[in-house]
Amino acid sequence: MASITVRQLDDKLKRLLRLRAARHSRSMEDEVRVILRQAAEQTGGEVLEHLDPPARPTRQTTRAIAAGTKRILLIIGGGIAAYKSLDLIRRLHDRGAQVRCILTAAAQHFITPLAAGALCGERAYTDLFDAQSEFDIGHIRLARDTDAIVVAPATADILAKMAGGHADDLATAVLLATDKPILIAPAMNPRMWAAKPTQRNLAQLIADGIRVVGPNRGEMAEPLEIAAAVAAITRPAGPLSGRRVLVTAGPTNEPIDPVRFIANRSSGKQGHAIAEAAAAAGADVVLVSGPVSLHDPPGVSVVKVETARQMLAAVERAMPVDIAVFAAAVADWRPERTSENKIKKQPGQTPSLALIENPDILSTIAHRKSDRPRLVIGFAAETEALVANAKAKLAKKGSDWILANDVSPQTGIMGGDTNTIHLITANGVESWPPQSKDEVARMLIERIVGALGDAKR
Ligand code: C5P
Repeated sequence: MASITVRQLDDKLKRLLRLRAARHSRSMEDEVRVILRQAAEQTGGEVLEHLDPPARPTRQTTRAIAAGTKRILLIIGGGIAAYKSLDLIRRLHDRGAQVRCILTAAAQHFITPLAAGALCGERAYTDLFDAQSEFDIGHIRLARDTDAIVVAPATADILAKMAGGHADDLATAVLLATDKPILIAPAMNPRMWAAKPTQRNLAQLIADGIRVVGPNRGEMAEPLEIAAAVAAITRPAGPLSGRRVLVTAGPTNEPIDPVRFIANRSSGKQGHAIAEAAAAAGADVVLVSGPVSLHDPPGVSVVKVETARQMLAAVERAMPVDIAVFAAAVADWRPERTSENKIKKQPGQTPSLALIENPDILSTIAHRKSDRPRLVIGFAAETEALVANAKAKLAKKGSDWILANDVSPQTGIMGGDTNTIHLITANGVESWPPQSKDEVARMLIERIVGALGDAKR
């Protein structure tokens, strides 16, 4: 008998058969073969002994759940990017993770539970009040029996529900019931993303400890990037596990009018490298970055800002933290007035630009009366009298350490890949060799780990 055709099953039975087949990553016909074979074995097998051998189990079903295998619960939201989440399942498998899926009602307009379930190697979950799933596993177990939850794509609606603590469907109920790390990969229309409620919800979720990956130029982060971020949040403990680290990076842009702004040459490379190194050491990292053309470091929550005042607001929202590293090249001044319309060229007239001082973010945080980070670290970008100026800055700004670097154009440090640091602390000056910004980042993390020592958390 080469094939089986199954007819005249009622709808309920067909549905159950489809789910069972999806859970085992088999076709419905193969599933019927397996059921018949099991029935035959139970009845002595005399009638069905010529049945085809069961289909070879798929890669997913044969995967041994080895010790240390990470269990990832993937919640797929309703957006066109849902198709990328099917690839994400594969990427997570490639990293050795076991993946279970929940599809929201909206997600099912884009992809089917059958496709997601077949790739996962077990049924995809869809309903909060699903008799089978309640009997079988239930939302509380879905929330707990995992090492991390990934929401991809995370739509504006899911973000709003998460920020508000809603639990009116399986996905949101699981998200509310879990005590595991949550990573969101937002994807939505750029206007919905930029809308104030969405940004407010995002800030709230970051403050709640939820990690974010992407979006990149309006699109959901790529599956490879999301898989790397998942790996980062499920990585084994490091010397900064349990610590929360804030890093500022990049320049700020201070608008003159809708098309012009004051900027500087900072690339954000040093700050991004520090954020990545802190995450690699097990820290929970928030990176507040001005406009840069760098990818978000994996496993780091990135808040993107433009102006100094936005950067200060994002930094204050991220508090409290254990360690704060201020690597951003914040503009000292901003135009006193930002013109609503583009300033027109008038023959024979040169407009004058009145500037006012920006808030000093490092100094504001270092002088906090409550919740001051244990370690406040600043940078001093100088073009002359490097160490003397940096020492003065340490006292004036109230920071614990200053990393001084010479940013004269001939050093190539600003925007370049290498850096030469003098670490200035209350104990003196330590001069580091010229090295890559990644190495500077690792060395700084080593010093931070050393300074925190075994002190109580
Ligand atoms: O005063 P100066 O800009 O040289 O100080 C550099 C340090 O102060 C850096 O760590 C920078 O990130 C931080 N800073 C800040 N807010 C400002 C100016 C500088 O956080 N408005």
